[in-house]
Parts: sequence; C-alpha cells; structure tokens
Amino acid sequence: MEGMESLVDGYFSHIMNECRSDHGGAVADYIPELSAVDPNGYALSLCVHDGHTYSHGDTATAFTIQSVSKPLTYAMALQKHGAVAVDAKIGVEPSGEAFNEISVDDRRRPKNPMINAGAIFAASMLLPPMDTVDEAAVAAAFAEVLEFYSGCAGRRLTMDEDVYASESATGSRNRAIAYMLDSFGALETSPDAALDLYYRQCSIRVTTDDLAGIGATIANGGVNPRTGRSVFSGETAQRLLSVMTTCGMYDGAGDWVTTVGLPAKSGVGGGILAVLPGQLGIGVYSPRLDEHGNSVRGVQVCRSLSKDLGLHMFNVTRESRVTIRSVYDLSDTSVGAEWSERERSYLRTCRDTIRVYELQGDLTFAGAESVHRRLEADMNQYTVVIVEISRIGVIDAVARTMVLSMKRRLDQTGRRAMLVDPDGVVRASVDRHRNDTALPDLDAPQELQGFDPALPHVHSTMGDAITDAETFLLKHYYDR
Ligand code: DON
Repeated sequence: MEGMESLVDGYFSHIMNECRSDHGGAVADYIPELSAVDPNGYALSLCVHDGHTYSHGDTATAFTIQSVSKPLTYAMALQKHGAVAVDAKIGVEPSGEAFNEISVDDRRRPKNPMINAGAIFAASMLLPPMDTVDEAAVAAAFAEVLEFYSGCAGRRLTMDEDVYASESATGSRNRAIAYMLDSFGALETSPDAALDLYYRQCSIRVTTDDLAGIGATIANGGVNPRTGRSVFSGETAQRLLSVMTTCGMYDGAGDWVTTVGLPAKSGVGGGILAVLPGQLGIGVYSPRLDEHGNSVRGVQVCRSLSKDLGLHMFNVTRESRVTIRSVYDLSDTSVGAEWSERERSYLRTCRDTIRVYELQGDLTFAGAESVHRRLEADMNQYTVVIVEISRIGVIDAVARTMVLSMKRRLDQTGRRAMLVDPDGVVRASVDRHRNDTALPDLDAPQELQGFDPALPHVHSTMGDAITDAETFLLKHYYDR
C-alpha cells in the first residue's frame, strides 16, 4: 500500500489531464522575459488546513507573481495603517474594467486594490513621505514586502531581476496611472518610488506550492498552516477575501464567482491563487492568458475542481473542518462473551488491530480529505477500521465518494472497512443518488475520476460492528 498514489492525488492527475489539451490563449508578450516562458508549463497545488500540500505537474517551475501580489501588498497597507485610513485612499468597488484601466471613483480614489491604480497606491502606502523617500527607502520597504510574502508562502522568496528591469523599462501605462494619482495630490510619496516598489513586488518568483500556501494562509485567517506563524490579522484576511471575490478576476469577476465561486487573484505570469475560506488554498500555473489577463487553463482547472469537489464558497454553509472527533483501538475493551475460550484468547492478542475513527460535523471535501489521509497514513496500524458517523450532520456527494472509496483499497490488502451509521445517513445518501436519476443531484459530481466508492459493511450500532470485526479476525485465525 505504501508508495501507492493516494486517491486524492489520482483525482488531481485526472483533472490536470482533462484540461491539458486546452491550448487557448497567449503568453504575455509585453516584456521579453514573459514571452520567453514555456507556454506548456502547467502545475497545480492544493494546500489544506494543516499545511499538507498536494502538488502536481511543474511545481518546481518558478514564475513571477505579478498581480497575485496585489492582495498581499494591500494586506500590508491594512496592517500598517488600519482599514479606515486605507479606505480613505483606496475604494473597494469592482471596476468592471481591465486591470490597467486608468480609473478612479468620484472621490478620485482608485476603485479597488486589485486593479493597477489601487495596487500602486497600496505600494505607495508602504513608503516614507515624499521628502525623505530615496532608493534606500524603497529597498528597505521592499525587504519588508519580501519578508511578508515569504511569511505567507512559508519559505524565503526571491525576486527576478530581469523581469524587474523590464517591467520598469516598459511601464508607460503604469507611470501614467501613478502620475495621474500624483496629480490629484493623493500620493504622499513620490510616484516613481511607488512604481519602483510595485514593479519589484510583481517580479517576486513563486511556484504553485507557494501560491497554495499563501492561499491557505488567507483561508486560515492569516496564520500560515505550514509554519504556524501569524502573518496578518483575521480582519485583514476577511478584507482580502472580500476584494478578491468582487474584484480579483477583473472584468471576468462575475463569471468567475458564478462558475468557480472561490475568492481568487490572477497574474499575467500565468498564476492563479484561489481560496476556500476556512479550508484550503489553491495555486495553478499555466501561462497562456485570455483577454482579461487570466490563465486559460488555470481558469479551466479551477472550474473543474470547484464543480467536482463542491468547493464553491456558497456550497459550504456550515462548519466542515473538524471531523475526526476521536481515534482509539479496542485493546482496552473486553472480548465478546459469545466466543469460545480459545477464540477469546486469540482475539485478545489482536484487538489492538481494530481501530475506531469517530467523525463529527458536516462532511464536505476538506473534511473528507483529512479523514481519508488519516486512514491511509494509519493503514499499517489496523486490520479492521470502524468509521463511526453518528455525529455527522450532512455528508455531501464528494465526501461520501471519498470515504466509501477506502473500502476497496482496504479489501485489496486483506483489511476490512466498516461503517457505524445508526441514522442511515450514508445509506440514504447512496440510495438518493441511485434512485433519483431523473432529478439531478446538484451537489453530486458527475464522475469523480480515480475514486471507486463501494458500500462497506454498514452497522447500526458499535456493538454490531465490533462483533463483525471479531468475526473477521477469527476468520483469519481459522484460515491459517
Ligand atoms: O502592472 C503590470 O502591468 C504587471 N506587472 C502586472 C499585471 C498583472 O499581472 C495583471 N494581471 N493579470
């Protein structure tokens, strides 16, 4: 069993393959460094609440973060000045316009921090005032930016010097934006210094593992799940999720919220960062872009993930993360009286190979993922696994598929899976799925490739499950 690809990994490989042949869009070509990247580069990472990361494809490929930097610098401005001071300068209204539109609201504030005007303004708020700002001050501010971004990713990041040089040399449009803001008297520092800091932040190199870690940090209220360090406050995280939802995908934002439903940010380097609040972060890389500047395959992958795994944020209505309530084996309990003396003494030697996992809460992808991973990781420690779900409220189709997929895996290795389901939650969910072919089950994946669900032995009481487990172990005994 060890070394075998997990079922969750199998599913991600499938999603990658399904979208692989989509070669639509074009690599950004406004600077030579971006037009020179391999257009077929392709990677997907997903980081869950405890920092565990699923990595697929070219996850060693580093690319520039570009506009995915915008929420992070906005977070720094919020942490430094507080929301009231930042709101006085940068709006939070979706612009419905392209990322580099020269647009401000009727108070002459950039409409939001996700378009260039707002992002350049946010960068300016990290710098000292006009009269003292110089090259050293920009370098010092950038050191803080790099430190902050690294804290979000959970590892030390670096900047791509060539991209930075090209960005500074070609940015007429961004200069126009910064000087327009300056002409309103809104900037408190020099427009050139703000631009310099903005170009540097855009040139930071990341991988999809980094983006997934940054996403998981935002999902986790500012605490990086890989390092356990708090990088920004819960209020800041809430603010980022809000502006990413309404403005993150630019003029494609409405379509994105409808079809994917995850707060997200894209960059012209080909990266997309998406977040399921409270649960996980996703990083995708594929450098061919659509007309909005969003990665074509990246959007495709996110759509599939969201649809298949039920990740749309409005699909998750209740707490769905704390799912393993307790784990124990049966070594401390007494053996059933129905067995003969010989059978009982045999069972005493192997009762610790019967393991019980008690689950609680609502079970959706994130919860099922952690249960699944735990069951796989512990596999050497049990022969019979009893999953007790009496405290499960709702179990969605994805979670059901994932939990039930353990059965065949265990069968293959001579183990046994049992379910204690007093209220028949799983049974009802399976039956509804089987019988209602006329009624589309909205939360059911059409097909969750790679998973192979089968109903394990279902019992309505723990006592019945234990007797069945003992019967199974005794069969081993007599078969020897
Ligand atoms: O400001 C620019 O033009 C770039 N350095 C970053 C833009 C970007 O990533 C837009 N997002 N899709």
